[in-house]
Amino acid sequence: MKYLFTALTFLPLFCFSNPYHPGGDTSQTFYNKFSFALEAKNLPLEAKLDFAVGNGFFKNPWIPAPATTTARDGLGPLFNTNGCEKCHVRDGRGQKLTQDGIQKVSTLVRLSIPPITPEQILLQSLYGPIGDPIYGGQFQPLSTTNVSAEGNVVVRWHSKVTELNDGTNVTLQWPEISLKNLQYGDLNPKTVLSARIAPAMIGLGLLEQIDEQDIINNQKQQALRKDNIKGQISWVWDKIKQQTVLGKFGWKAAQPSVSQQNAAAFHGDLGLTSSLFDSAPCTSFQIKCLEAPNGGEHEVSDKILIFVEHYARHLNVPKRTKLEKQGEVIFKQAKCDICHKPSYITQENKYLPALSKQTIYPYTDMLLHDLGSGLTSNQEFTASTQQWRTPPLWGLGKHEQVTGELSLLHDGRASSMLQAILWHGGEAQESVNIVKALKTEQRTLLISFLESL
Ligand code: HEC
Ligand code: HEC
Repeated sequence: MKYLFTALTFLPLFCFSNPYHPGGDTSQTFYNKFSFALEAKNLPLEAKLDFAVGNGFFKNPWIPAPATTTARDGLGPLFNTNGCEKCHVRDGRGQKLTQDGIQKVSTLVRLSIPPITPEQILLQSLYGPIGDPIYGGQFQPLSTTNVSAEGNVVVRWHSKVTELNDGTNVTLQWPEISLKNLQYGDLNPKTVLSARIAPAMIGLGLLEQIDEQDIINNQKQQALRKDNIKGQISWVWDKIKQQTVLGKFGWKAAQPSVSQQNAAAFHGDLGLTSSLFDSAPCTSFQIKCLEAPNGGEHEVSDKILIFVEHYARHLNVPKRTKLEKQGEVIFKQAKCDICHKPSYITQENKYLPALSKQTIYPYTDMLLHDLGSGLTSNQEFTASTQQWRTPPLWGLGKHEQVTGELSLLHDGRASSMLQAILWHGGEAQESVNIVKALKTEQRTLLISFLESL
């Protein structure tokens, strides 16, 4: 009897900690390009209905006001596209900007002015980037009728060749972004452009449920390291709590929660107001935009925000079919696992049972790291121009099947795992040097491990 009891107490530990199930009990089998769109496997039945409602608001296009379908109107007047899924393709990541930059909406361009005066520095670190005075914080190439769109994004791709120790040449490409046909006058000469590709939506609720103490401990442990790896927490403004909190979402971890990130997307990407972002996406220089009809005081009601939050929190992280243990050993030898920290147990949350106490394998420390001058952008809150949040690597080998292309890193510049690694620098320079020096077979094992995720 006593032995049975002991066996039973260890059983749950054994069952729930399974690297084949990166999202714990949320993980479903990966079948095809729609697998990122599946709900958490352990979602209770009644919660599945709310998931389906949230999915509708994520997937279906919004329309300009005034319209007869009032629940779904208010698009614009300035916007990037008309629905979340246009960018988060099948809940996966977006597509790279092509040469003309216009059709591939899923890479958007952030605009910001580097803070210089003490007042600007303080405001920036507390409340986030200072946008261009005329065009605001995000470039919007589309508009409703009667209002001029802001202009077009133009991309020039550059390339360089890097040689590995075994003689292999790897071509690395990067986009240079500029704006043309500007409809409201020139940009401020100081305005910095930063292109961002839409990340995948999988496992966001699980990341949100990582205990903050675990993230703080990651920072503390790295501070004690003798090498250069020193991740930092992104401190950001929480509009609901009205205080500075730990940032988790977006490429620079500028958003504290799934709900605030969603509301920011409704506002910045679709031009829809809500209780969190209650003014139209127009600056004082965009008069017609300010005067255009709207879809009611809050175009996205709190009810809709809650449905979309529920949806965005509960997308599954698909199962893996192999582990590639030899490759994982190399991953650790190259110190990738310091930033791409393999696993956590999520905190207990009685309101989110499917996400509670799950052993997950996201491969991120949720901290900001300086990856060197090859990957510069703008400042966002406490994140410097060269700092990015370690992105989770779960689902890495599946993006190509879901989106139809592989576009890694914040602006989608890397088309292969190896290219993504070679763009690392700064705190990760030693990792890059180790990978460059690997024997060909070892490098193949490392890549196979990344593809197995
Ligand atoms: C124009 C393309 C575009 C549209 C439309 C769009 N997104 Fe995004 N989304 C992005 C980009 C780009 C990012 C990364 C932003 C950054 O890092 O600055 C992002 C990030 C996110 C994240 C954070 C993911 C993570 O891993 O940190 C969530 C959640 C999200 N979007 C939800 C939504 C919702 C909900 C909608 C619809 C209301 C939406 N998005 C519409 C491009 C888009
Ligand atoms: C110092 C921390 C750090 C180390 C060490 C590190 N990474 Fe990263 N990794 C990052 C950050 C930060 C990014 C995001 C950079 C960006 O988007 O510009 C990233 C991005 C990636 C991406 C692209 C993910 C995506 O969603 O686009 C891959 C793949 C990756 N890393 C693999 C590795 C591998 C393999 C190693 C070891 C050889 C490694 N990393 C070492 C911090 C690190």
